[in-house]
Amino acid sequence: MKVGNKSYRTIWVEPKNQNIVHVIDQRFLPHQFIIKEIHGHETMALAIKEMWVRGAGLIGAAGAYGIYLASLFINYADEIPIKLNQAAQLLKSTRPTAVNLSWAIDKMLEKLRGIKNKEELKAKAFELATQIADQDAEMCRNIGLHGLKIIEELHEKNPQKTINILTHCNAGWLAFVDFGTALSPIYTAHIKGIPIHVWVDETRPRNQGASLTAWELKEHGIPHSIIADNTGGHLMQHDLVDMVIVGSDRTTRTGDVANKIGTYLKALAAYDNQIPFYAALPSSTIDWNLRDGIKEIPIEERNAEEVKYISGLIENGESETVLLCPKDSPAVNYGFDVTPARLVTGIITERGICKANENGILELYPERK
Ligand code: MRU
Repeated sequence: MKVGNKSYRTIWVEPKNQNIVHVIDQRFLPHQFIIKEIHGHETMALAIKEMWVRGAGLIGAAGAYGIYLASLFINYADEIPIKLNQAAQLLKSTRPTAVNLSWAIDKMLEKLRGIKNKEELKAKAFELATQIADQDAEMCRNIGLHGLKIIEELHEKNPQKTINILTHCNAGWLAFVDFGTALSPIYTAHIKGIPIHVWVDETRPRNQGASLTAWELKEHGIPHSIIADNTGGHLMQHDLVDMVIVGSDRTTRTGDVANKIGTYLKALAAYDNQIPFYAALPSSTIDWNLRDGIKEIPIEERNAEEVKYISGLIENGESETVLLCPKDSPAVNYGFDVTPARLVTGIITERGICKANENGILELYPERK
């Protein structure tokens, strides 16, 4: 997608030196656009853990490039399996909820297994990581095309009306390699000239909505308003939300959707107000082994300091972090929650839209029966 007039992806290999992977460092957005160079898999693991890069699809691609970077430092053919496994373990240990991370790393390991020549290993690892990144972008582009149909239907019912869409967290292009999931249909509809306004949940405690989704939408000229996380229910009661679209970090084969903490409450409010609630996700986010999201999806617990402190720009343009609460009050920081399938109107995937249940999902992915 575009930043100013220039097209970017969130992760790419330096064309003049393939030993360097570039990422947009999301910790500095929306105030600064900073690109970081990553030279090894340990730094990639740190970048995922500390959320320089974040979002389900992007951490999948970052994991794949992490394995590629690890392959560059393997000097002897007999070290290949052990070094790759060590790198995989480190990368996978960074964040537990988004299944795209382990999906991408396992895919790399599976396809690299048995390679005994280090030059062949590097070439193949590069090819595979690039494939995973390209595939992520392509899946997201297709999610945009399928999701567009839902927005078009709403538009056709009342062509004069601006369509109000509520989203939570950031499932835009910054959370993937390109295009995004929840925001991809919104970008596609905006390009088609459908009038849209997006309600952007700020998404405490890390504020991915206020800092990343708002920045993306502003860069693309899409009307939006940032709202405090607790506002959605009120807006829904007053007919100010036509649909909700969120992303997902892991979805079970039965359609339970894990997404950023707070999503479940939005789904409950949408259900109570008969407002369509869609989750947009590529098939790399579906965990085909799980059936009960509430019991089985691991929920990341992050540092409580993220709840207790908040960062932003002060008047002189410097960034500052301040304490929000009594210093000694304990805090708890769950990163995700699970919305049960019964509250999800539909799932928008790269293959089409389906019901949020096993039959619906398997109709689109019959090879998983
Ligand atoms: O903790 P994050 O920012 O990595 O959270 C992941 C997300 O971006 C959201 O949960 C998003 O809505 C899911 S789609 C990437």
